[in-house]
Amino acid sequence: MHSWSSRSFSQLATVLLLLAPRFALGGTVSKNGTICTIQPSLNGTDDTPAILYAFEQCGKDGSVVFQNATYNIEQVMTTTGLENVVVDLSGTLLWGTNTSYWQNNSLPLGYQNQSTAWIFGGTNVSFVGHGYGTFDGNGQIWYDLANGTDNLPGRPISLTIANTTNATFSGLRFVQSQFWTTAITHSENILLEDFYVNSTSSTGTSTLNTDGSDTFYSNNITFRNWTVVNGDDAIAPKANSSNILIQDSVFWNGNGVAIGSIGQYLDAYEFIENVTAENIVCNGCLYIGYVKTWPGVQQGFPPNGGGGGLGYAKNIVFRNFIANNVTSSIAEITQCTTYNGATGECDTSKFQISNVTWGPGEGTVFGDTLAAFQCSGAVPCPGIELVGGLSGVKTNGTVRSIDCSNIEDPIGFNCTEGS
Ligand SMILES: *[C@@H]1O[C@H](CO)[C@@H](O)[C@H](O)[C@H]1NC(C)=O
Ligand SMILES: *[C@@H]1O[C@H](CO)[C@@H](O)[C@H](O)[C@H]1NC(C)=O
Ligand SMILES: *[C@@H]1O[C@H](CO)[C@@H](O)[C@H](O)[C@H]1NC(C)=O
Ligand SMILES: *[C@@H]1O[C@H](CO)[C@@H](O)[C@H](O)[C@H]1NC(C)=O
Ligand SMILES: *[C@@H]1O[C@H](CO)[C@@H](O)[C@H](O)[C@H]1NC(C)=O
Ligand SMILES: *[C@@H]1O[C@H](CO)[C@@H](O)[C@H](O)[C@H]1NC(C)=O
Ligand SMILES: *[C@@H]1O[C@H](CO)[C@@H](O)[C@H](O)[C@H]1NC(C)=O
Ligand SMILES: *[C@@H]1O[C@H](CO)[C@@H](O)[C@H](O)[C@H]1NC(C)=O
Ligand SMILES: *[C@@H]1O[C@H](CO)[C@@H](O)[C@H](O)[C@H]1NC(C)=O
Ligand SMILES: *[C@@H]1O[C@H](CO)[C@@H](O)[C@H](O)[C@H]1NC(C)=O
Ligand SMILES: *[C@@H]1O[C@H](CO)[C@@H](O)[C@H](O)[C@H]1NC(C)=O
Ligand SMILES: *[C@@H]1O[C@H](CO)[C@@H](O)[C@H](O)[C@H]1NC(C)=O
Repeated sequence: MHSWSSRSFSQLATVLLLLAPRFALGGTVSKNGTICTIQPSLNGTDDTPAILYAFEQCGKDGSVVFQNATYNIEQVMTTTGLENVVVDLSGTLLWGTNTSYWQNNSLPLGYQNQSTAWIFGGTNVSFVGHGYGTFDGNGQIWYDLANGTDNLPGRPISLTIANTTNATFSGLRFVQSQFWTTAITHSENILLEDFYVNSTSSTGTSTLNTDGSDTFYSNNITFRNWTVVNGDDAIAPKANSSNILIQDSVFWNGNGVAIGSIGQYLDAYEFIENVTAENIVCNGCLYIGYVKTWPGVQQGFPPNGGGGGLGYAKNIVFRNFIANNVTSSIAEITQCTTYNGATGECDTSKFQISNVTWGPGEGTVFGDTLAAFQCSGAVPCPGIELVGGLSGVKTNGTVRSIDCSNIEDPIGFNCTEGS
């Protein structure tokens, strides 16, 4: 036993000597050809210098390998410009709880004043978690700190995939995300499959803002086989998202699939086009699918205020879903979203919503409301369809409300209130 530990100490000392100038504390990296393997620190100190060093050494035509161990992440990370790389995560990345550090240092996402703990990007990247590689955001401290405050400044997105083309992320687990779990921006041709996301507060505080994934300026993104347990949008395509496919997934609590919010920036022209969510099971979600834009009049500034944006959202399909006790409605459109308590101006948005379809689907909603559509008087919504009147979905009783405002030529349903 004694000789084992002194031998491993001398091996460790060699590695430390080699790499000491780069990072005196924390984990170490051993490089064999193009494979960089990161050993975590033995005493719980920050592993980010070692991780960044591994990406620097092996982030082109190589592999970055994490062992089945816990790595402490105490600083922001930028690992961009990767090429032909495999990232193999078999352990847990555990984010530190120094909330004032993160609030002061998290990296700007470039939209909505949001920020992130890790910006990751490149081409031909494969990030594999084998079903057990885990991101643990230590989110409870954030849920308690925010305590229901929306978009607390500097509260970091766990992982932001930026400027990335041709990449696959698979078998990853995200537990207790600090804020949004993932964001995808300026990216194309990405598959994210077999994800497990669970942000659940144990103290009764809100898990608002724990979105599963938000997309911006991105095209051809596929989410397949996701489990999301959270208190906000499961997946939300936002500004300039196109050809987004969400398949074979199970969502618990949270808001279901959200299109938007969008239209938050005065006079900015943005769009969302071609989103399909299919084979979705929603357990206790607020909605199956909802579309949300800001009003046409600017009231305050992002992240919690704004409005006055232009553009469109079209060709959006929610089909083959099972609603288990969906609590608000299956289908929802609102064009007067705000997060700062501002009200009114609901008929002012000039952001055009069209061609949105829900169904077929089955299951139950908790109340009497099957759908609630509030389109802007300035740009009524055409092409809104509930396939077969959503006859497979039961409401809680005989009433099946479909509230409408400014719905043009509804397909498959009649409004029960408004028009
Ligand atoms: C942890 O180990 C490193 C060397 O690996 C050392 O420099 C550092 O002081 C240690 N930290 C603590 C808190 O023991
Ligand atoms: C380095 O990699 C080669 C080829 O994969 C392997 O044969 C060798 O055992 C590795 N060396 C060490 C020290 O792990
Ligand atoms: C990781 O290590 C733990 C014990 O440290 C073990 O229980 C677990 O099975 C290992 N996981 C894998 C995938 O090897
Ligand atoms: C959250 O706020 C509520 C009411 O404002 C308060 O009762 C509760 O103690 C707060 N929780 C935490 C963890 O700060
Ligand atoms: C992505 O690329 C754009 C345009 O080249 C650049 O402005 C932006 O800073 C990059 N984002 C990141 C996170 O690297
Ligand atoms: C991404 O893949 C497509 C299809 O295989 C290919 O045409 C394109 O060149 C790739 N893009 C990059 C940046 O490698
Ligand atoms: C979309 O992305 C997938 C990878 O997820 C790729 O296989 C496919 O070729 C891309 N489609 C187009 C039209 O580029
Ligand atoms: C879906 O992902 C989970 C991990 O979250 C995995 O255990 C399961 O095998 C995947 N299902 C399919 C059909 O691949
Ligand atoms: C989510 O996590 C909570 C707390 O760890 C756990 O009780 C719950 O079973 C998990 N939900 C699912 C669907 O895995
Ligand atoms: C949306 O899908 C249609 C039909 O496949 C296609 O013609 C159109 O180019 C797509 N729009 C975008 C922005 O990719
Ligand atoms: C409506 O959207 C569907 C699915 O994206 C598409 O196939 C269809 O062509 C669109 N219809 C119109 C009128 O744009
Ligand atoms: C359905 O959701 C409501 C509201 O969240 C909840 O009170 C009720 O217990 C749920 N019912 C079932 C059967 O889960």
